[in-house]
Amino acid sequence: MSDHFKVKMQSINDYKNRPKADNPVKIQDLTLRDGHESLFASRGRTEDMIPIAEMMDEVGFWGVEVWGGATFDTMHRFLNEDPWQRLRTLKRYFKKTPFSMLLRGQNVVGYRNYGDDVALAFVEKAAENGIDIFRTFDALNDFRNFETVVAAIKDCGKHFQGCICYSLTEPRMGGDVYNLDYYLDKAKDLEKMQADSICIKDMAGLMAPYDAFELIKALKENTDIPIHLHSHFTSGMAPMTHLKAVEAGVDVIDTCMSSYAYRTSHPAVEPLVMSLIGTSRDTGFDMKKLAEINVVLEKEVLPKYKHLLDDSKVSIIDINALLHQIPGGMLSNLVNQLREMDALDRMDEVFAELPRVRRDLGQIPLVTPTSQIVGTQTVNNVLFDDGDEDYKMITAQVKDLCYGLYGKTAVPISSKLQKKALKGYERGTKPITCRPGEVVEPELEKARNELKGLTSDLEDILLYTLYPVTGKKFLMYKYEKETPPDSLRPRTLEDVKKADEILAKAKAGTLVEKSSKDAPAKGKHTRTFNVFIEDEYFEVSVDEPGGQPIITYAQPPVAPAAPAIPSQALAAPRVAVSPALRPAPPSPAPKQSTPSHKPATAPSSKPAAAAEGTPLTAPMPGMIVSYAKEVGDSVAKGDSVVILEAMKMENSLPAPANGTIKAINYKSGDSVSKNDVLCIIG
Ligand code: CO
Repeated sequence: MSDHFKVKMQSINDYKNRPKADNPVKIQDLTLRDGHESLFASRGRTEDMIPIAEMMDEVGFWGVEVWGGATFDTMHRFLNEDPWQRLRTLKRYFKKTPFSMLLRGQNVVGYRNYGDDVALAFVEKAAENGIDIFRTFDALNDFRNFETVVAAIKDCGKHFQGCICYSLTEPRMGGDVYNLDYYLDKAKDLEKMQADSICIKDMAGLMAPYDAFELIKALKENTDIPIHLHSHFTSGMAPMTHLKAVEAGVDVIDTCMSSYAYRTSHPAVEPLVMSLIGTSRDTGFDMKKLAEINVVLEKEVLPKYKHLLDDSKVSIIDINALLHQIPGGMLSNLVNQLREMDALDRMDEVFAELPRVRRDLGQIPLVTPTSQIVGTQTVNNVLFDDGDEDYKMITAQVKDLCYGLYGKTAVPISSKLQKKALKGYERGTKPITCRPGEVVEPELEKARNELKGLTSDLEDILLYTLYPVTGKKFLMYKYEKETPPDSLRPRTLEDVKKADEILAKAKAGTLVEKSSKDAPAKGKHTRTFNVFIEDEYFEVSVDEPGGQPIITYAQPPVAPAAPAIPSQALAAPRVAVSPALRPAPPSPAPKQSTPSHKPATAPSSKPAAAAEGTPLTAPMPGMIVSYAKEVGDSVAKGDSVVILEAMKMENSLPAPANGTIKAINYKSGDSVSKNDVLCIIG
């Protein structure tokens, strides 16, 4: 490794003509998938990938990762883009470099295990549209979840890269579960499955440099398959870890272009290229070409995304990753979830509870979707458990995990929790031990029928199967049955310019032009009113000189926002208290009010005035997946009434009382805020 070339370069800028190394490190670029997923919430649009695509194709990357993970979800949900189309578009520009995708085994690109027919069709379609390397992982490292997709990948003649998720229970590799033997055994399993390469997937940046050296060296000694390292920067160790892995003989390393690097993303490619110049592992890359790509990214692309950067901290290193081993994406989810619940101050409780939940759930690695499963359940425990009861609100996904639907956990799940979770579980109370795919029914035919009249395209059917609610919405836009809202429109450089101008004005204190008129002195008879608009609260004073009311000032108060009340109460004195403040409103509402009383605008808080009874309120903000009951159905206390998706996990909300469903206030796909009345039981 330390051998330097005898041939000196002609000048400091002569990167191009240096001699080729004996064993160059190969590089896979992640900018167009993990890079923008880590830094910009996967919001990168295809149109912003095109300007650099041909230049990227010239660098000499071993592969470019362009798809999978959260992109499939985000594209149709937030960007109104067809994920399949991205592959076809980018393939026109990348003529030489293989395309890589991240595939969640039997989870495909969703959050649960799907039927074998779905997994099979998905791989075939992905291969057909241009994927060459299928980086396949399973959150539990249960490789039985690879069986279906691997057979399909091999049938398509594509590269099967088997991942081992890197996890720890202590600060360094070792201990009872995640020790060197664990990883070597997993590598042998992948070898038996005819993996074309093995990737160590260090999604939280937990791998210490000397552990990387030990692990990669042992893997190289024990297997002939190329070894690939994927290590996130989050904790700050990854550049050192990369270098030690290179010294230990790693074959391929994952990096990003520098403007998409660091923070929760990956180390940048440029410093690695420079560090290895003149060594036996020199990448051979042209630094000038890399620099040119960065100019385009900085000027034409990043201005549109920089607002998505988490700039709440100056430090680009997340110390929590070292302390709590929480992957970056999971941490931001937890923060968002707590913020929406007005419970950010309980973060320390979440940190304390998380290791317990993880241990109860079988010491599983924390990677999508297990990071979300463990994270959301932890937040639920912190917010809803009390002294009397543990695991009061168990998510549907935790129930599935306890049933064995995700596969075999590293150590057995707590039997107490398992029993509680499976009480009344629809698939049965006895957990399975077989390959999960065996118990999941085929799903495509059902989806095909449900989409009849809209589309019969297999790509659409797959999208809908993976994301029934948001997928359906997207297909309605795609086939022009509905108009997409403006919020799905791309942000243009024009928009950025306007926003920057407003920001500059605000900084200069010239945003609000002062009225030239001086306000008159407040009269003796000024009356003050509290005015509520949606969630905002204003105090307005009204003075009546000569009988003419004049609004003398209006300002948002410093006090915390009052609960939202309906617009009818707008401009009324405070005595008209919001019905939302009452637990069960003795309704003064007119009797003729229709049950499907819906506001024309997007739903926010809504009064429970349409029917008398006990309201079922949303315990957290989220999206309605479905109602298990209809108006007129009778329910017993505890029956599941609504499935609410929060932070991608489904929560079954039980009836708070016996009775009949009197009113249902939302429909599948609606977003709701905390405390919104979802239905009334009378
Ligand atoms: Co990653």
